[in-house]
Amino acid sequence: MAPIPRRATVAVTGAAGFLGGWTVRLLLDQGFRVRACVRQVDDPKRTDFLKAMPGYASGRLTLHAADLDQDGCYDEIFRGCHGVAHIAHVSDYNDPAYVQRVCDHIIGSIDRSGSVSRVVVTSSIAAIISEMDLQEVVRRPVFFEGRYPDEMNPKRSPERGQGYSMGKLIAERAFAAAADLSGNWDAITCCPGDNVGPIQSAHQKDMGPWQHFIETMLLGEYEQSGVYRPWMTVDVRDDALCHIGLLTSGSVRNGERFIAWSTDARKVEDICADISRLLPEIRLAPPVLVDRFPDRIRAREAEFRAIWAQAELRNERMRAAVGMTFRPLDDSIRDCVESLISVAGVKPVTLPED
Ligand SMILES: NC(=O)c1ccc[n+]([C@@H]2O[C@H](COP(=O)([O-])OP(=O)(O)OC[C@H]3O[C@@H](n4cnc5c(N)ncnc54)[C@H](OP(=O)(O)O)[C@@H]3O)[C@@H](O)[C@H]2O)c1
Repeated sequence: MAPIPRRATVAVTGAAGFLGGWTVRLLLDQGFRVRACVRQVDDPKRTDFLKAMPGYASGRLTLHAADLDQDGCYDEIFRGCHGVAHIAHVSDYNDPAYVQRVCDHIIGSIDRSGSVSRVVVTSSIAAIISEMDLQEVVRRPVFFEGRYPDEMNPKRSPERGQGYSMGKLIAERAFAAAADLSGNWDAITCCPGDNVGPIQSAHQKDMGPWQHFIETMLLGEYEQSGVYRPWMTVDVRDDALCHIGLLTSGSVRNGERFIAWSTDARKVEDICADISRLLPEIRLAPPVLVDRFPDRIRAREAEFRAIWAQAELRNERMRAAVGMTFRPLDDSIRDCVESLISVAGVKPVTLPED
């Protein structure tokens, strides 16, 4: 299928979210017409930042109410669109039948649109790697698009915290199969790493989770992430650009998946230190570690960290497909902190005056 043309009309689901909001903004910057799909158009906390975008005043950006739990939810919105960036979360990743059902709702609206030719489906690196069993990382330490979590592993169940990872794979496959069957549109998967960068609206500070973790650092505490995994990051703006690049790339094919990350991996305690290094003006009081791990996990910290240190993160497929140059994590941390303070009014805990 041909990529969507420049200045085409693109629908963005999850448009009030962290990544969705940036995708809307950068699509507008590149001259596209955008239909931003949110659950509540009239919730000022979630949509005022969209309505403040210049494209809203001219009508190039329009807002639409849709809940993907409803069959036919996007029928009217997708009609006349060339592309869809399906970025929204679903309400429950732990119920595979529900995940399949909401995919069917969205696919139905795409099929009935008669106009959509390219869909980018937002998955996650959770559909590439899984933290359920670190021996999997030992056995297969190269993180690339052809890698999947071991689906036969008995630990892979919603009860063991794998619902998100499983749900993302259900969606990837549902969209690729439906596009194949249709023959009228392509489904391309984007698997983002940990999104860091500026929020555009105060409500986004509580989402994420990575910007929320940075907020807690500003407020004096930090936690180790699951099983001592370092942050494997992408700037939220670069992630949005990857989505736009996949909508417009002429070199991608239905069913292909692409990882969006810079390949920068950084330990959480280093991110705390980075805030002070990058923004000494804040005089941030060093955040205190809150360790919720049981002793049996803590005893294995060095072993787990050594496993992650062996991992090799790859992104050459995305760079080739969309011509991306990923920005350094330092810029993402700095811009995230400044936005938390300026947009959301977060007040960092500071060192006492000398
Ligand atoms: N953030 C990351 O680090 C990261 C990493 C990998 C993958 N991802 C993926 O990227 C996507 C966006 O993540 P994000 O961090 O930007 O999330 P976010 O800020 O929480 O935004 C997600 C949006 O999904 C929408 N949504 C949730 N349930 C919905 C429903 N039933 N119907 C319609 N919309 C619904 C919400 O819309 P309303 O605001 O209108 O209620 C929300 O704004 C997700 O698919 C996520 O899995 C994110």
